[in-house]
Amino acid sequence: MSSTHFNTQALSLSTETITLQSTYLMEVATARAAVDAGVQNVAFTWIDHLVHFVFQYIFFIFYPAYDRFYYEMQIEAFTHQGKELPAYESYGFREAVLFIHRFFHSPSTIGSIFPSSRGLVNAITKKVAEAAKNPKPQRYLEIGAGTGSFTEGMISQMKETDHLDVVEYDADLCYLLRRRFRHLKNVAIHHVSIFDYQAKPYDVVVSGLPLMNFSPDFVEKAHKKYVDLTKSGGFFSYFEYIGLSSIKQPFLFGETAREFQQVLDLKRGLVEKHGKEIDNIWWNVTPARAVHCSVSHLREIEE
Ligand SMILES: C[S@@+](CC[C@H](N)C(=O)[O-])C[C@H]1O[C@@H](n2cnc3c(N)ncnc32)[C@H](O)[C@@H]1O
Repeated sequence: MSSTHFNTQALSLSTETITLQSTYLMEVATARAAVDAGVQNVAFTWIDHLVHFVFQYIFFIFYPAYDRFYYEMQIEAFTHQGKELPAYESYGFREAVLFIHRFFHSPSTIGSIFPSSRGLVNAITKKVAEAAKNPKPQRYLEIGAGTGSFTEGMISQMKETDHLDVVEYDADLCYLLRRRFRHLKNVAIHHVSIFDYQAKPYDVVVSGLPLMNFSPDFVEKAHKKYVDLTKSGGFFSYFEYIGLSSIKQPFLFGETAREFQQVLDLKRGLVEKHGKEIDNIWWNVTPARAVHCSVSHLREIEE
């Protein structure tokens, strides 16, 4: 394997700086990126192939530095060759593994162990599909995108003049989202907590936060954000797992039981105030429902 002249330092796309420590791995990643971009005279042995495969498809969870470095080198190599970067290839496997890994790393923030099913994606993006029929450009917000199942669904419904902002708190997931949707100029990924995010209200807000797993304080603040970030006449959509509260409640005692009841009361208050449309999705792990609420800020001022 011969190393190429591409810059091996910058990791500009990373949400945080991750350094690849091994010079050999740097050379493998750089050479592989050069091969991908069609650079001639790069020797790449079967051992290099094996190392690349192992670090990209097996160790990427525990050692993301290789994958990120390889991706940066791909950008350099393709740009240097005057070629467009290849489209992000999603086979679902890497995303699912990353999602499960992030869940075990931080269960309360991620809130669910599996990414959502196609049925739930279609249901939760219903208001985006409706809004996109409006010939005027529409603005959408997604809160808590995970590996991007809802994001992809929203993008598939949007028209070219529409814009989507995605807010995701987890740095690794944010990195994946940036990489996955990098080719779209009307999609912006923000690595920030929704509670620190400020923007003009949107036509449709879609939330991936499974609020039943959170504290009453978090839920109350999240509800306020949903309403504040939705335009008057617009919609916010969120999801919840069917039957979760009935299954959970008998196992909760004392303060935890009281807090969970507060969450249920907050949820009831939200739908009473903002009305709701419900779509049940039985083919999801576990069965879920998409809830769509409308916002009228005028009504709020009068109240
Ligand atoms: C259940 S997951 C979303 C799953 C996604 N809809 C899917 O199907 O792949 C919830 C996501 O919300 C994110 N999240 C949690 N708290 C957040 C916050 N305060 N601001 C933004 N995102 C947050 C988590 O990092 C996680 O990725």
